[in-house]
Amino acid sequence: MNEKLAILGGPKAVTIDSSEQWKRPIDEEKKIVCDLIERGELSGAGFGISKEFEEEFREYIGCEYCLTVDHGSTALASAYYAVGVGPGDEVITPVAGYIGSYAGALHMGARPVFCDIDPKTLLMDPEDVERKITKRTRAINIIHMGGQVCDMDALLDIAHRYGLAVVEDACHAAGAEWDGKKIGNVGDITCFSLQGINPSGKPVSGGEGGVTCTNNRELYERQLIYCHLHRVGVTEELTNPAYRIFDSEVLGLKYRAHPLALALAKVSLKTLPYRNRRMRENREKIFKALRGLPGVEPVRDYEKAKPGGFYGGFKVIYNPEELGGLPIEKFVKAMRAEGAPINARLVSSSGPGLEHLRPLFTRGFDLWNHNRGPLGGEWCGLPPFKGYKKGDFPVAERMVNRVITLPAYIDPKEGFLDQYIEAFRKVTSHIEL
Ligand SMILES: Cc1ncc(COP(=O)(O)O)c(C=O)c1O
Repeated sequence: MNEKLAILGGPKAVTIDSSEQWKRPIDEEKKIVCDLIERGELSGAGFGISKEFEEEFREYIGCEYCLTVDHGSTALASAYYAVGVGPGDEVITPVAGYIGSYAGALHMGARPVFCDIDPKTLLMDPEDVERKITKRTRAINIIHMGGQVCDMDALLDIAHRYGLAVVEDACHAAGAEWDGKKIGNVGDITCFSLQGINPSGKPVSGGEGGVTCTNNRELYERQLIYCHLHRVGVTEELTNPAYRIFDSEVLGLKYRAHPLALALAKVSLKTLPYRNRRMRENREKIFKALRGLPGVEPVRDYEKAKPGGFYGGFKVIYNPEELGGLPIEKFVKAMRAEGAPINARLVSSSGPGLEHLRPLFTRGFDLWNHNRGPLGGEWCGLPPFKGYKKGDFPVAERMVNRVITLPAYIDPKEGFLDQYIEAFRKVTSHIEL
């Protein structure tokens, strides 16, 4: 084997085209969409395709209640409403997270409070969550980033001890499990996104859309009154006498999903177990090989976690000190030259990398004008907003340039993964690069 690196003019380690072989069932998608168009079922909720999809998703997750909405971020907003997040509250969310995950709480008048991450899992660090709790904390926003599952035992224990609600974001993680139970059937209320299209979109995808799952009737009903205007049967569903006074226009917001999106999502859901199984196998194969190499350290999964969904790819920690200080950019370039697609990226958003460094949080913002809103408003009992700065989250800030992301392969061509692994071996054994 010629060991000369491709970036220095040697032959490439990867000669097999990496393109994903798994194909979405487009004919099935076309049929279900055309059937809806022919039936004229292009609006509404609580019947037809929306009810069918909710029932199938509910059964898949194993929870009692499931509702669809138009986006993952509105699913989260409705969940914050359901648990009673409002002005003067604080919601703890990971700094290596995503604005769409806590924006619903912010617009509800609550202040997002960031917590640091664990350097081995890259997920929210339960110890830092506990440090960030104040008398104003109302909820913890757990994000299962990249399909990895957070430490649910530790986080639920904290939530119970302090009487906090848990709003889970499983937008990247449909099909992931904790201790044998699907995420969506573990905490108080869990949200999923249906954005994009497979295989690159959210694990269950239909273009745009969102889903919430809960086992708590009260939370389900609060979501109904919040944003399910004119859902078929909405008033009959309300058992809480305080909500039964509403007519079918409930509290007036309509965040419902488009039936065509749910039709696509219904087809997508069918292939999720297969895709998740294949992605887990491929991830483990790659991770097993990388564990024997210097400089590249697969992220750690908690013992009770079974990751799934894998939106954004498989994450590997890059330790340059084990590779003679080789900068991550050079490593990525060398891998790409070998024909191995990888990225250097801790978070998938197009923002500043970490949430606290958005101008929204370094400078603050008068969200509702007139010196009101949660990022400045002592008016609602919050302390003055100090603004975040570089240095506030030492772990996340250290890790932000130490993570590489590998595509979440489902069905790569025969022999591709072996060559992909070989590219890692070749590049990591040439630290003189
Ligand atoms: C972690 C996370 N939460 C929430 C969302 C919001 O989902 P949607 O785009 O469907 O509103 C996204 C979308 O990318 C996300 O990545």
